Amino acid sequence: MKVLALNGSPRMKASSTYNMLKPLLEGMRAAGAETEIIHIRKLNLEACIGCYTCWVRTPGECVHKEKDSMATALESYNTADLVIFGTPLYHFSMSGIMKTFIDRTLPRIEPWLIPHPDIPGVTFHPERFHKPNKTMLVSPCGFPEFDHFESLVATFKHMARMERFEYLGEILRPGAEALSSRSLQGLFTNYYDLLRQAGEQIICEGSVSDETQAELRKDLFPGGKQAFYEMSSAYWEEQMDRFKVLEELRHTTQ
Ligand SMILES: Cc1cc2nc3c(=O)[nH]c(=O)nc-3n(C[C@H](O)[C@H](O)[C@H](O)COP(=O)(O)O)c2cc1C
Repeated sequence: MKVLALNGSPRMKASSTYNMLKPLLEGMRAAGAETEIIHIRKLNLEACIGCYTCWVRTPGECVHKEKDSMATALESYNTADLVIFGTPLYHFSMSGIMKTFIDRTLPRIEPWLIPHPDIPGVTFHPERFHKPNKTMLVSPCGFPEFDHFESLVATFKHMARMERFEYLGEILRPGAEALSSRSLQGLFTNYYDLLRQAGEQIICEGSVSDETQAELRKDLFPGGKQAFYEMSSAYWEEQMDRFKVLEELRHTTQ
């Protein structure tokens, strides 16, 4: 099985998203999958300008074709058996670069409107490239609750339906800021082991088991929300200390 992971964090490797994707892919490789990771920021993507050149002038080819590395990335996207969308939660949605990547997949479809082949009553664009494919979502966020992912998950589920991809589910990590910290990595060995386990299960069994998913959803830190707030504030204080930010500039609203 060929797996493509898209890392939509602008922080690339110094990121919670990457630190989640890495063990997940390790588990997949241990189960026999071939894996590739694309750090979207490295593609230096131009934004889609809505010119529809890829539909009407040079069907299947973007007007930006020579300007960035999207065409090569699309080859990987079109041939993968499983595409993992990895994105930090940005303003309750995906990161800007992940959205740019997805917008730039427009050359994959044709302009015509037809009934959706599988969903009665729903309109569809015929695909130039279709491969029975699977997708899943991996996302960390800063707030400690799962609710914040609601619209992100709905978006990726809907996109999967509209691209005729099988949606394998999501691995979400609220309160994840610390996952990106190099000095704290030792605290997360259990979590990373669970992600490896999840990766193996996806390849061997087709999805993450309910037991593994329940373990993955447990809090990373004990002590509840107040302890989490205090830890989080300590982290940001430390960051401001690094830059010697004056005390009176640290709290502008209270
Ligand atoms: C521009 C921006 C917007 C963000 N929006 C949210 C948000 O809506 N909800 C949330 O819980 N965290 C939000 N965060 C925090 C990130 O989701 C969190 O730090 C995440 O762990 C970053 O992942 P990364 O290290 O892979 O980039 C935001 C961060 C940035 C930089």
